[in-house]
Amino acid sequence: MKNEWYKEAVIYQIWPRSFKDGNGDGIGDLQGVLEKLDYIKSLGVDCIWFSPLYPSPNCDYGYDIADYKDISPDYGDLALFKQVLDGAHERGMKVLMDLVVNHTSTEHKWFQESLKGKDNPYHDYYFWRKGKGKDGKKPPNNWLSTFEGGAWEYNKDLDEYYLHVFAKGQPDLNMDNPKVREEVKSIMRFWLDMGVDGFREDVITFISKKEGLPDGFPLPIATGVEHYNKGPHCHEYLTEFRKDIMKDYDCFMVGESPMTNSKDALKYTAGDDKVLDMMISFDHMQADCFITDTLCTPFNLKKMKKAFSDWQYKLNGRSWNALYLENHDHPRIISRYGSEKFWKESGKMLATMCYMQCGTPFVYQGQEIGMLNNHLDSVDKFKDVVTFNNEKLFKKFGFSDATYLKIANRTSRENARTPVQWDKSKYAGFSSVEPWFSVNPNYKEINVKQQEKDKDSILNYYRKLLKVRKENKIFIYGDYKEHFPESNDFYVYERTYEGKRALVICSFADETKTFRAPAGFDLTKGKLLISNYKDAPAKPNICALRPYEARVYLFA
Ligand code: GLC
Ligand code: CA
Repeated sequence: MKNEWYKEAVIYQIWPRSFKDGNGDGIGDLQGVLEKLDYIKSLGVDCIWFSPLYPSPNCDYGYDIADYKDISPDYGDLALFKQVLDGAHERGMKVLMDLVVNHTSTEHKWFQESLKGKDNPYHDYYFWRKGKGKDGKKPPNNWLSTFEGGAWEYNKDLDEYYLHVFAKGQPDLNMDNPKVREEVKSIMRFWLDMGVDGFREDVITFISKKEGLPDGFPLPIATGVEHYNKGPHCHEYLTEFRKDIMKDYDCFMVGESPMTNSKDALKYTAGDDKVLDMMISFDHMQADCFITDTLCTPFNLKKMKKAFSDWQYKLNGRSWNALYLENHDHPRIISRYGSEKFWKESGKMLATMCYMQCGTPFVYQGQEIGMLNNHLDSVDKFKDVVTFNNEKLFKKFGFSDATYLKIANRTSRENARTPVQWDKSKYAGFSSVEPWFSVNPNYKEINVKQQEKDKDSILNYYRKLLKVRKENKIFIYGDYKEHFPESNDFYVYERTYEGKRALVICSFADETKTFRAPAGFDLTKGKLLISNYKDAPAKPNICALRPYEARVYLFA
């Protein structure tokens, strides 16, 4: 397997609005990022991925882009971005931009031009269609958006509908139009020429819609998705982007791909015709829900292990995994798969469990200090289009306000969007004024400053863990094998590389449980590289594993 840089790298995701406010307006920005570059580097990070920084009316907090070649005034300007880019490079860190080209904002000039009529050259940048039915008053098909009711929005002046599979403010681009593909390449070149190192490509498997836009199988949301997820020309268009851009640049591309299994991932990320370096999978994020976070169920360890192992085995030697537990689209992981009661233990265990696997670690802002879900006392304190859309849906199905509030507090992606907790001063040191979104009230206990001082903190554990990974190539390139897949308490796997073996042991139980080492492993002969409890058991082969205990042994 070729040793490309991204395989050894650790990627840190910044969701800029909530990272750090540098100019005192309550909104995170690039000045704030600049101040924290040394902090990010100190974690053992090699690459920063920025969620969208572009001008945007924020109907989907930056994922509705009004200008792909500029920086939002909320965050700074191009000159400041360049400073951050140079600052990252000087510290040996690369930078990825978010490439959101399934859709633009309705405020993008292409869309504004497209509104001028069929003869306008930008009209065919989008999916404008006549209505159906005798009076033409029915939408062109039965598709539903993922975010906001129907997937078609009517425009009176044109007497046509435009397609938006996400929010109304996010009209889908018509990637079948070669001019649109040239625009995408021009955006890529713009940032790469500036020195950016690659892209995270937003919902990239949605970019090709089935010809004729046929009706879809009826679902409560996202009806029609089978006609655009991994659509007919998706691989072809991505090949075009890859070929036309890669020949001039050494750039890295990770694609976000909801509803994609490991077999699909290979099609896009393996072999000579690969179009992406990695895919952001969703399978392992569904161990406490059904398809989407909102349809929550109790956490099921076996379901999680099965998903991780499936991707580990299938991609082994052929492609590469993106290892993540959090991002801006999911609630906080300790609140989901760990335990708020065993906050520190489970926070460290979850990181060990995930990042000792084969793949590139992605760490989301605040995850490294174990930030937890937030608890708001009314739905109108939320900010996200998805939360409000779900509210409508749940109410339609008869759920009460109080029940929906509970569901939103548990499952909303806004849990990951509260300001980063830097210290225990007012507003958690995020800003000098009241932030755009509520600070989690636990900031006095959970914050960076406190954890910097504490040798035993989650923060310092992340540093140590990422260092262990970097210093032992077995965790980067080794083969993976799971033990005890039927266990409801433990997740145990081994890694093997160049004659060495490592064993990763993680307990998901909230009480002490008896553990027996897998056959062929004598733990007394192993070197304990890292553990989340201070004292290792004297007789580790059959021992009591404490709540959320994690241990990593190396056998040379
Ligand atoms: C991706 C983004 C998410 C956004 C959606 C629409 O899933 O990660 O935040 O809302 O695409 O762009
Ligand atoms: Ca600001």
